[in-house]
Amino acid sequence: MRLALILVVLSAGCRTETALQRGSELFNDPNAANIPSNVFSCGTCHSVLPDGDPNRINAGYSLANTLNRPSWWGGAYDDPLDAVNECWVEFMRAEKGFAPDDPDGRAILIYLQSISTAPAPALPLTIVKNIITDPMLPGWVPEGDATRGAATYQKACAQCHGAINSGDGRLGPSVSVIPKETIANHGTDMLMGARPVTIEKIRHGKFFTIGGNMAPYSLETLSDSDVGDILAYMSL
Ligand code: HEC
Ligand code: HEC
Repeated sequence: MRLALILVVLSAGCRTETALQRGSELFNDPNAANIPSNVFSCGTCHSVLPDGDPNRINAGYSLANTLNRPSWWGGAYDDPLDAVNECWVEFMRAEKGFAPDDPDGRAILIYLQSISTAPAPALPLTIVKNIITDPMLPGWVPEGDATRGAATYQKACAQCHGAINSGDGRLGPSVSVIPKETIANHGTDMLMGARPVTIEKIRHGKFFTIGGNMAPYSLETLSDSDVGDILAYMSL
């Protein structure tokens, strides 16, 4: 009886370890998701360091301590699996979200539990809804500084897009070569061309009927002046 109990405990322990490994694998390896059109892992957009990665400006928050937050996605979700599923479906192109008993979904939560060791509050998420497309109107993204913009681009965009205009080092052919393709597709008109299109893409990602699978950058992640700097670096 006692031996049986120990065996049950041991095998449960084993299962947990395997789930943790699987969760960590899913978090870090884009291929672990087994979604052929997907080139992102969770780690493409989320650090797991408590203060974030100093070399990165990610669209998503650091997930250190995330399971201790009372809500996620700026208060939109109060179940962490819903928060994960938003990313899994919208950005990583899964057909549907994990059901609560899905082993892979549980593995991701077990991994997130393993990095949630300190208390953590809910975080704000300010999405810029209205993109000002007229340079004469208040709210137009200011002219920026190209040198600062090079550094910001390197931290925020290069991990997916690679180098500007060549795309060298980008994650894959599904990632646009910017700003070259944007200029080719939209021209350089100040009201409708590559500059406003790029601002809108940064702020809305795939949402607001834009499409694709890029994530939006909130005001907490990039200020309007950061965006202006990136545009200056791209000569937009
Ligand atoms: C393309 C970028 C991207 C990918 C890939 C991605 N996420 Fe996210 N994630 C975001 C953004 C943007 C948000 C909204 C900002 C935020 O709340 O962190 C978010 C929010 C979250 C949140 C809520 C965090 C909080 O405190 O509000 C969790 C949890 C999360 N993601 C987990 C995951 C997991 C697990 C994966 C992999 C299965 C993943 N994400 C993949 C971009 C991404
Ligand atoms: C997590 C990976 C990722 C990051 C980080 C990222 N992008 Fe993207 N971006 C993509 C992907 C994938 C596409 C193509 C699919 C789509 O349109 O969503 C894209 C498309 C674009 C487009 C549309 C190009 C066109 O002509 O249609 C622009 C502009 C753009 N990104 C700008 C940026 C800028 C500027 C940054 C940094 C602030 C950035 N992206 C960060 C993945 C990313």
